[in-house]
Amino acid sequence: MKNIIALGGSNSKNSINKTLAVYTANKVENTTVQVVDLNEYELPLYGVDFETEHGIPENAKQLNNLITSTDGFVIALAEHNGSYTASFKNTLDWLSRIDMKVWKDKPMLLLATSPGGRGGKTVLESAKSYFPYLGGTVIADFSLPNYYDSFVENEITNVEFKEELSEKIQLFEQHLNS
Ligand SMILES: Cc1cc2nc3c(=O)[nH]c(=O)nc-3n(C[C@H](O)[C@H](O)[C@H](O)COP(=O)(O)O)c2cc1C
Repeated sequence: MKNIIALGGSNSKNSINKTLAVYTANKVENTTVQVVDLNEYELPLYGVDFETEHGIPENAKQLNNLITSTDGFVIALAEHNGSYTASFKNTLDWLSRIDMKVWKDKPMLLLATSPGGRGGKTVLESAKSYFPYLGGTVIADFSLPNYYDSFVENEITNVEFKEELSEKIQLFEQHLNS
């Protein structure tokens, strides 16, 4: 049995990305899912001076330990002004100060959703191209546009999107178990 982390790249309590990440991770077969909420790993704003003075915060170390002990990730990124949310980027910055291989070469299914028609595609593309520099192995990516129409009662309403995500989950499963 493999263990995967489901993470929404947002500190919103009602994060639609966290919902999508958990929904997707629960569809990965033969795995246990650990849901990571960024609010449980609150971190000060990264700055070199802060780090010199105070060192690495305990929450960053704990999250890094969790990442080290898992087998893979389902991460759904929220998009703020075409990029990562401040909370996710801050977490990434702290984690990269512990180990540049933040994602430890483990398989990742990368997702994004937003209420708009682009479904967070800008941040998704950005992460897809940069995560490999942080030890990320992005197996597949998927963006769900128009969240509030596309995801109703914990289900994807559009058959084509549902099928596309299902294929990507299968691909991720294969890598997780290879
Ligand atoms: C400051 C701010 C900037 C945003 N910028 C974008 C954006 O660039 N693209 C987009 O699709 N949605 C944008 N949105 C809308 C978010 O996609 C929406 O708030 C979504 O719920 C965020 O995901 P979350 O619920 O997982 O936090 C923005 C929202 C905020 C508050």
